[in-house]
Amino acid sequence: MDSKEKQLTFRLAFAVTVAALGSLLFGFNIGVMNAPEQIIKDFFNETWMGRSGVEIEKATLLTLWSFTVAIFTVGGMVGSLSVGLFVNRFGRRNPMCLNNLLAVLGGAFMAMSKDASSYETLILGRFVIGLYCGLATGFVPMYLGEISPTNLRGAVGTIHQLAIVFGILISQVLGLNFIFGSENRWPILLGLAIIPAVVQALALPFCPKSPRFLLINQTKEKEAKDVLKQLRGVEDVGTEMLEMKEEHRRMTQEPKVSILQLFRHPNYRQAIIISIVLQLSQQLSGINAVFYYSTGIFSKAGVDQAEYATIGAGVVNAAFTIVSLFLVERLGRRLLHLVGLGGMAVCTVIMTLSLHFMTKAPAVSYLAIIAFFGFVAFFEIGPGPIPWFIVAELFSQGPRPAAVAVAGCSNWTSNFLVAMLFPFAQELMGPFVFLIFTVLLIFFTIFTYFRVPETKGRTFDDIASEFRVKAGMKPEAAENIQLNTDSSV
Ligand code: GLC
Repeated sequence: MDSKEKQLTFRLAFAVTVAALGSLLFGFNIGVMNAPEQIIKDFFNETWMGRSGVEIEKATLLTLWSFTVAIFTVGGMVGSLSVGLFVNRFGRRNPMCLNNLLAVLGGAFMAMSKDASSYETLILGRFVIGLYCGLATGFVPMYLGEISPTNLRGAVGTIHQLAIVFGILISQVLGLNFIFGSENRWPILLGLAIIPAVVQALALPFCPKSPRFLLINQTKEKEAKDVLKQLRGVEDVGTEMLEMKEEHRRMTQEPKVSILQLFRHPNYRQAIIISIVLQLSQQLSGINAVFYYSTGIFSKAGVDQAEYATIGAGVVNAAFTIVSLFLVERLGRRLLHLVGLGGMAVCTVIMTLSLHFMTKAPAVSYLAIIAFFGFVAFFEIGPGPIPWFIVAELFSQGPRPAAVAVAGCSNWTSNFLVAMLFPFAQELMGPFVFLIFTVLLIFFTIFTYFRVPETKGRTFDDIASEFRVKAGMKPEAAENIQLNTDSSV
């Protein structure tokens, strides 16, 4: 039986869960520096005093701290841009497995830094774990997209984001002072990153390789078929094999696609622009301004125990990712992304107004918090999960690795910019700072409405040929192309 509506089999669920441990680790490292900020700053100060005999200056401490937080995103940029180097040659599963060495190394450096009285070791650890996360944000969505049946691709892709948000939540809870966020236990908290990495490294060899990589890149037809039978839990995988062979036929006509060609060749230009703008829409929505600086925002809003409100945001974040998981295959990517961005824009206006009027009527602070939770909820409906997996959907096997690398790097770079610039913008604009995001969100909503195609329920090949038609090719020619790319670029 090769029915159209394929089910979630045990093999598929196992592979998805194991791969998503990489996403969990990414989320964990996004959130982990938030709660123990003051304690780690004290460690910086002690180390500084131990070396020089004087207290560290406030400005130096702040710079050192921002550097420690932000170096993670620099590692992410480098890692995400390197994805293509590995996946083209070694496939998807094996590089994902090896990547865990970086996580173990990064975790070990961070855990050792206190005993070694060296904040340099902590910074190095953050960079190395950033490298790991940059690679993982390419490997995981690509692997998930390539092992899922078409009708479940969006839901499986959303698991990446679900694991990220659980990672963030776990780090927020474990970072509480009475758990691991204390003076003596914070190195354990940072070192915990090693556990999911070891589990993933041990479990991945039992997961299937990407059938698309086996067939399309390596022409190992029998192996690809066997893997597909296991993943789908049926004997007859004829239709899917045919569809992959068709993609393979096209790929043999399509020389290797470099990053530069993505921008030069009209067949890919539209799709790469959409991919980049979608990544920007995720990060420049302002979500990480909230996740990095929420405790401060809540304190200003007059909340007593701000870290619990931060955990509240983490819970809303996780809950709405689950909502999206159930909606994405019903309502499609476009609608959810549009509703998410539009809803976020409205929430930023309410947040701004309520933060502004709060001094006159303190009860308004509750409205600020509700708008804040609404902002997070709308983010997870669409802009959180969708950009991560839609890039793999917009490209066929040949250009996919280069596209995932470019998109990932755009995501990490804009993440870095928000992390670095938000505190300054907040200083300058006070409660009106969120209006910057309102303007950006409106722009991204309009862009999505006019430019982003619906990919739900469509094969990779079908989506790619839509872009070929848009690039000016006749529909029949787009079906039967003989790409004439300039492989010297
Ligand atoms: C997405 C973003 C990440 C953000 C998270 C919040 O995964 O890529 O930067 O922190 O969502 O849930």
